[in-house]
Amino acid sequence: MEIKKVGVVGCGVMGAGIAQVSAQAGYQVTVSEINEMLLNKGLSALSNGLTKAVDKGKLAQKDKDAILGRIKGTTSVKDFSDCDLVIEAAIENIELKKKIMAELDRICPGHAILATNTSCLSITDMAMATARPDRVLGLHFFNPVPLMPLLEVVKTIVTSEDTIKTGKAFGESLGKTVVFAKDTPGFIVNRLLLPFILNAIRMLEAGVSTRDDIDQGVKLGLNHPLGPLALADLIGLDVIHFIVDSLYNEFKEPQYAPPTLLKKMVTAGWLGRKTGKGFYEYK
Ligand SMILES: NC(=O)c1ccc[n+]([C@@H]2O[C@H](COP(=O)([O-])OP(=O)(O)OC[C@H]3O[C@@H](n4cnc5c(N)ncnc54)[C@H](O)[C@@H]3O)[C@@H](O)[C@H]2O)c1
Repeated sequence: MEIKKVGVVGCGVMGAGIAQVSAQAGYQVTVSEINEMLLNKGLSALSNGLTKAVDKGKLAQKDKDAILGRIKGTTSVKDFSDCDLVIEAAIENIELKKKIMAELDRICPGHAILATNTSCLSITDMAMATARPDRVLGLHFFNPVPLMPLLEVVKTIVTSEDTIKTGKAFGESLGKTVVFAKDTPGFIVNRLLLPFILNAIRMLEAGVSTRDDIDQGVKLGLNHPLGPLALADLIGLDVIHFIVDSLYNEFKEPQYAPPTLLKKMVTAGWLGRKTGKGFYEYK
């Protein structure tokens, strides 16, 4: 199936990035938010990112204008009525995502594919909220979307092969490298990354080493750009807590159980960069 018009639900961190890379690849894009204020905020962030690329000489001004010209913002779900693919990137809440999928199912053309960018929620549950479960899949992008080269394409037991083929072709048309995973919490990358971060927190908790030495060890010993504790601050400790709860509830494996220190930091509101304090302090 040929995709010409792409819809994106949510213009937050991920939605704005997905809208940008889709428009950059030449698609007409409609991106929605719950109100004008958040829509303007998301579109401004997107536009500012492109301005920075122009200032650095990485993007021509005329290309920036063309990209922005292909993106239309809206606060009405009805504007997805002519989309061939809609990617849901609203907040990580299963009831909200099921409601959005059911709405999109009512509004979008029969041939349209509905995708979700969820990190750990059940895509099968979202698919079954629609009358087209064979045309629902996961398209899991990484943050920041314009820079990260990977896309996880996620297949539920009811997703059709055609839908997966179209999802793969779409990802590749954005310049992403596609990997495939089944609909299980965390897919590939988060299922590996989260136990790693939790082990770093457990090591700190047990006094095996200091924050700085744990991060330095991983950066220099494993050639990672960030240590796991700094990365945890970047992702947000509340987000990590939410994802590992999902993993633990599904698999009941101790490796996914949130360490006491993580729980206490979340309770104290030390969520990482976004609150100015996590394992590190931020000005
Ligand atoms: N941030 C990451 O690093 C990351 C990485 C991969 C996947 N994800 C997933 O992507 C999704 C979005 O995450 P985010 O970090 O962009 O969150 P975010 O909070 O930055 O953005 C979500 C946006 O969705 C909007 N929204 C909520 N309900 C809506 C609706 N009904 N219609 C339109 N917009 C609506 C919110 O107003 C908000 O602006 C989540 O499912 C998250 O798990 C996040």
